[in-house]
Amino acid sequence: MKILITGGAGFIGSNFIYYLLKTHPSDEIICVDALTYAGNLHTLQPLLDKKSICFYKANITDREAIDRIVKNERPHIIVNVAAESHVDRSIENPGIFLETNVLGTQVLLDAARKYDVERYHQVSTDEVYGDLPLEKLALAFTENAPLRPSSPYAASKASADLLCLAYSRTYQMPITISRCSNNYGPYQFPEKLIPRMIINALHNKKLPVYGAGSNVRDWLYVEDHCAAIDLVMRKGTIGEIYNVGGHNEKTNLEVVSTILKALNKDESLIEFVADRPGHDLRYVIDSTKLETELGWTPKFSFAERIQYTIQWYVEYEEWWRNMLNGSDAV
Ligand SMILES: NC(=O)c1ccc[n+]([C@@H]2O[C@H](COP(=O)([O-])OP(=O)(O)OC[C@H]3O[C@@H](n4cnc5c(N)ncnc54)[C@H](O)[C@@H]3O)[C@@H](O)[C@H]2O)c1
Repeated sequence: MKILITGGAGFIGSNFIYYLLKTHPSDEIICVDALTYAGNLHTLQPLLDKKSICFYKANITDREAIDRIVKNERPHIIVNVAAESHVDRSIENPGIFLETNVLGTQVLLDAARKYDVERYHQVSTDEVYGDLPLEKLALAFTENAPLRPSSPYAASKASADLLCLAYSRTYQMPITISRCSNNYGPYQFPEKLIPRMIINALHNKKLPVYGAGSNVRDWLYVEDHCAAIDLVMRKGTIGEIYNVGGHNEKTNLEVVSTILKALNKDESLIEFVADRPGHDLRYVIDSTKLETELGWTPKFSFAERIQYTIQWYVEYEEWWRNMLNGSDAV
């Protein structure tokens, strides 16, 4: 299979490329990435001299460039992982989120349609559903839950999902969508909660926690997400959406405390800061459909993988220093 992956120099995209080369060594990978602040080609460096992978620096909103790449490469599958992905940045500057996440998706869909790509898979997020109340613990989002995005980021992802569903129906295109909960693991840009807190704790800097730290997220180790994307893009039913969740609900405060304990740091480093506007209270995702139809289950436990992830950031200091160069993220 020849698979074109956008956003392959980012957190999930790079983990997905490593996963595919490990599990399907005969696949050919075309990685397309604009190398924004969140993309880092160093992450893929050990792979770039392999014959089975090639890299194009291109923006998914650049219709001519995307058309040319798809025309020349003729991938069997396109997986759209590229996105502007940070909620706080979307509150500051929503425009770029609409350009990349919505218009970029349209450019990719048009190219997939024009060159009869066998499968287009859209990597989406549970944030399209909005949030659940903290106290109603039995509630979880199924694929039929209404779309109620809270942030410009989530609204742009929901819009892209709707575009994918409309293209699938109108043009009879072979499209699938997966909506995943919060991921953690290696190669995540240090503006996101887990790497940011690890790096601050290593520097004995304050760990800013929104509100009272009681917001709940459902954490999934990134390789479990990669396995889900792989299954859905190869075996998922056309026109369908699959939720991907870790059954791992933790408050932000629990996550931060776990990091401090693992690094032997004091809880006094925690600093409660004014809440994010529109901050979602609780996300919990029901992935029964993916489990029963395609046989996916998460393999990794949070207790073990969070320790592995913390150690990874301790060991790969050069990687995150390089990412932070010139950034005000931490
Ligand atoms: N991180 C999570 O917890 C999570 C959870 C569920 C879903 N997702 C979804 O997974 C996808 C990837 O998330 P991530 O955390 O890896 O993001 P990321 O910010 O780490 O990486 C995004 C990548 O896309 C590239 N990119 C950005 N704009 C581009 C453009 N216009 N053209 C080409 N490349 C561009 C960046 O250079 C970067 O390499 C996103 O669609 C996100 O919505 C993420």
